[in-house]
Amino acid sequence: MNATPLDLYPEHPEADLIEEPTVDTTAMATETTLLNPRFYTTDFDEMDKIDVSSVRPEWDKLIAQMKSDPNKGHFKKNAEWDADWANMPTPLRREFIDFLVSSCTAEFSGCVLYKEMKRRGSNPDICELFSYMSRDEARHAGFINDALREAGVAVNLGFLTKAKKYTYFQPKFIYYATYLSEKIGYARYITIFRHLEQNPDKRFHPIFKWFREWCNDEFSHGEAFALLMRTDPKLTTTWVNKLWIRFFLTAVYSTMYVRDHQRPEFHKALGVDVEWYDQKVFRTTSEIARQIFPIEVDIDHPRWQPNLRRMRDAFIAMDAAQKRGGFGGWVGKKTAAVRAGLAFVSLYLIPVKRNTPPANVRLEPSY
Ligand SMILES: [Fe+2]
Ligand SMILES: [Fe+2]
Repeated sequence: MNATPLDLYPEHPEADLIEEPTVDTTAMATETTLLNPRFYTTDFDEMDKIDVSSVRPEWDKLIAQMKSDPNKGHFKKNAEWDADWANMPTPLRREFIDFLVSSCTAEFSGCVLYKEMKRRGSNPDICELFSYMSRDEARHAGFINDALREAGVAVNLGFLTKAKKYTYFQPKFIYYATYLSEKIGYARYITIFRHLEQNPDKRFHPIFKWFREWCNDEFSHGEAFALLMRTDPKLTTTWVNKLWIRFFLTAVYSTMYVRDHQRPEFHKALGVDVEWYDQKVFRTTSEIARQIFPIEVDIDHPRWQPNLRRMRDAFIAMDAAQKRGGFGGWVGKKTAAVRAGLAFVSLYLIPVKRNTPPANVRLEPSY
């Protein structure tokens, strides 16, 4: 299950061990916490059995679009790349590096999972899809790592493949989690891009200029998972699976909220109110997810924001208790964990909104 050899990435230059002082950032990326991006593994044989004939016309169209590789030349620095790390205030620099490391880890996590599916599979439809998606994610991770290297740091991706813990998810959980992370990735990138279009003076690093075409890749990846889910209607219609979808929506949204609130300087530099930004991203993601999910979380419910804040505060308290150490720290950590758990339960129990997904699942990026 945990076979993730380095030779998975022969064509990907990042697989080479990077001979730079990479220890700190790689350690950041390797650390497994509740909030950090994870690496996943699954039942690849089961996924290989997927039959896409029920969605064939939409499938072929999407695959043809991915095959045409519209972003082939996009992830290259050009004259517009004007990074200025030297003049970045230290607190901002620290949070921005954290943002890039976390994004790079998430991108690379997708790359590893998709590449492994392609390598193990024999179903031509599935293998073709996963080869295009791993190609894209390798590019994304590599591009972020290039940006990090200019700051004198980088994530050692080859090392990460071996050192990171892998979480096993059965295929249906991979669909829910990965579909959501692709769509939320799209919503995050496009929201920042549109905001900086209006406020170009806040663009403190050139990487944001690359976000529009970038997020279109993520959008297509999300489309692929929507089609995969559509091949098996049970995944989105049974009572139990609806509870799971609800769980993943709540978990993905609340994790994003807590993580984003750990980067106040980063959002201040962008001129973004983090509460506004997160709500905007949730709204966009929820609108898109109506293509496939029969329910959505009610982000305007009076219990939504207060419990997100409660959860964020509990994570801050957990961190402080951890640093304190000793018996008091242990007790503080457990108490904070219970508080975070209660906030999560309260979020999970907010009545959901019902939705009837359309007959044709496909969407185009329109934000
Ligand atoms: Fe990506
Ligand atoms: Fe993606």
